[in-house]
Amino acid sequence: MQKLMMVACTLVGLAAYATVAISAEDLVAAVKERRHLMKEVVAPNAKLGGQMVKGTVAFDTTKAAAAMNEISGVPDKYVKLFPKGTEHGAVKDSEAKATIWDDFDKFKATAQKLKDASAKAAGAAAQGQGTFTAAFNDMTKVCKECHETFREKLEQ
Ligand code: HEC
Repeated sequence: MQKLMMVACTLVGLAAYATVAISAEDLVAAVKERRHLMKEVVAPNAKLGGQMVKGTVAFDTTKAAAAMNEISGVPDKYVKLFPKGTEHGAVKDSEAKATIWDDFDKFKATAQKLKDASAKAAGAAAQGQGTFTAAFNDMTKVCKECHETFREKLEQ
């Protein structure tokens, strides 16, 4: 048993050594920045789009397009904020499932889908509320798809 513990400690030590290039502060900063992008950029613009779809906020072509373009600007930056060692449990407040690093290509492809779907919704805004609604709903499916696979939602 003691021997097993020692092996486990050595492995943890090695894992820490392997990521030595990235400091603990950098890992924390990456989590903070990516949370900021989801919470302060993606979510409020998606909320505004949803309100225009429901009609609780008057539909406005320019504002709807601007909101979707804001979202579209996020994915390229977003996927760069996932250094190894920032999964849920490793860094406080991280909601990133380890599955992200099991299949990083799929994670990137899903982010690309959000970029495309939000750009499409931005373009659809000019064609009126009906066209916008369809494109907006397609975009929110991508949010759900990615969260189901890659996000470990924390109890707040
Ligand atoms: C490519 C995958 C992906 C897509 C697409 C995606 N998200 Fe996320 N989202 C995540 C991950 C991963 C987290 C958790 C990240 C972390 O905490 O480390 C997250 C977290 C969040 C959070 C919590 C932020 C916080 O820290 O409080 C909100 C809100 C959110 N997403 C909204 C959205 C909305 C709205 C959409 C669609 C318009 C969306 N997301 C699309 C992956 C995605």
